[in-house]
Amino acid sequence: MTPLLLIDTDPGVDDALAILMAHRHARIAGLGIAAGNVGLGHTVANALKLCDLLGAEIPVFPGCPLPLVHTATDAAHVHGADGFGDTGYLPSCRAAASEHAALAILRLSREHAGALTLVALAPLTNLALALRLDPTLPQRVPRLVVMGGAASGRGNTSVAAEFNVGFDPEAAAIVFSSWPRFELVDWELTMRHALDFERCEAWLAADDPRARFYAAISRKVRGFNRERGRPGVLAADALAMAVALDPGLVTAAAERHVAVELGGALTRGATVVDWDRRGGRTANARIVMAVDQARFEALVAGALGATV
Ligand code: BDR
Ligand code: CA
Repeated sequence: MTPLLLIDTDPGVDDALAILMAHRHARIAGLGIAAGNVGLGHTVANALKLCDLLGAEIPVFPGCPLPLVHTATDAAHVHGADGFGDTGYLPSCRAAASEHAALAILRLSREHAGALTLVALAPLTNLALALRLDPTLPQRVPRLVVMGGAASGRGNTSVAAEFNVGFDPEAAAIVFSSWPRFELVDWELTMRHALDFERCEAWLAADDPRARFYAAISRKVRGFNRERGRPGVLAADALAMAVALDPGLVTAAAERHVAVELGGALTRGATVVDWDRRGGRTANARIVMAVDQARFEALVAGALGATV
């Protein structure tokens, strides 16, 4: 059965790849949009542009323009000022839905009770708000896959914090403490599962509008990955989407309790994993530790109209 996905996202270059994968391999009930990589105006516009590219009638629900409590710095230096590599694309003529993302999450969870996979690829602001409005939400959603955190404290937005959690730590704390069991794809897994630069170039050369669009918007990010000496293209959200689409590609996972540091002069936004089960708390997260790289790459290539 093809999965039915509700995606909360802040497109964002790797978000775009994840959405292309979802469209190719699943059904999408809607896109909730968060601020994060860039401001909400851009992330909504980018989501609408992707719907154009795909020729798909996917509702786009704008969410919170700011984190719940504190302001935060975006990731425009990675994704471009517009979040899509500053290619100057022609904006979509489509309109976003008038319903707030948090309310759309709740409504869709009722309309598709027991059938949705919720995929969170952004700061968790919208989802936290939805949970505060209706704490029974997890009872209707069988799977939540979160891209976020750095399981052993090796962050990307600060020494210890990963971007999605570090941008809105209070929201992540609400989600992690209220959702009984979620799947976590963290930044360190992303580092272990980079996409080989040359293979990526080959997929992007496919004669397909999705490959052409993604090649253009990802040019800066790919350059950034090379300059930083990364092992390949790091595509965190694509990896999380691969786990959502094909749970069988997970080859190792650890069930542990994960909490979010909200204070901490050096560690605000860090994900604290109780690796040795010292706290005696029930595991809330299934932390993905490894995936089948070939299966991950096949999902990516397929979404770009290429073959591995
Ligand atoms: C996450 O942060 C964002 O910049 C990416 O889109 C991804 O969701 C990686 O830390
Ligand atoms: Ca993202």
